[in-house]
Amino acid sequence: MFKRIDHVALVVPDLDQALELYRETFGLEPTFREHNEEQGIEEAGFVVGDAHVDLLSSIRPDSVIAGFLLKRGPGLHHIGLEVEDLDACLEQVRERGLRLTGNEPRQGTGGSRIAFIHPKNLLGTMLELVERPEDHQK
Ligand code: CO
Repeated sequence: MFKRIDHVALVVPDLDQALELYRETFGLEPTFREHNEEQGIEEAGFVVGDAHVDLLSSIRPDSVIAGFLLKRGPGLHHIGLEVEDLDACLEQVRERGLRLTGNEPRQGTGGSRIAFIHPKNLLGTMLELVERPEDHQK
């Protein structure tokens, strides 16, 4: 079912400080940085092999990430796994009675389709299922 690890998403309290830490420690420069006003999130990421590591931070006290930080503190937010066929995968997940978050699937970056499985159903870890378009180049 799973093809590869697409990305790992980490919550950080302060994005600039986190980027500075990664720059000074590992000499890494982010390959992208995005401000999502609607979700109240700021995000930056590093390419690692054919996957990426995303750093997520909150820009509003009422964002999902702000809630996560309060409840669980900084650290792993979710793991993104690439799947061949998202719909088939979701059918299997629903058949097993697992809960998805929100209205799934939705549009991800780079023309991808994504869905999240609720962490309560997976022993505390949220999984993001990612279906990349056919012509996706890594
Ligand atoms: Co993700």
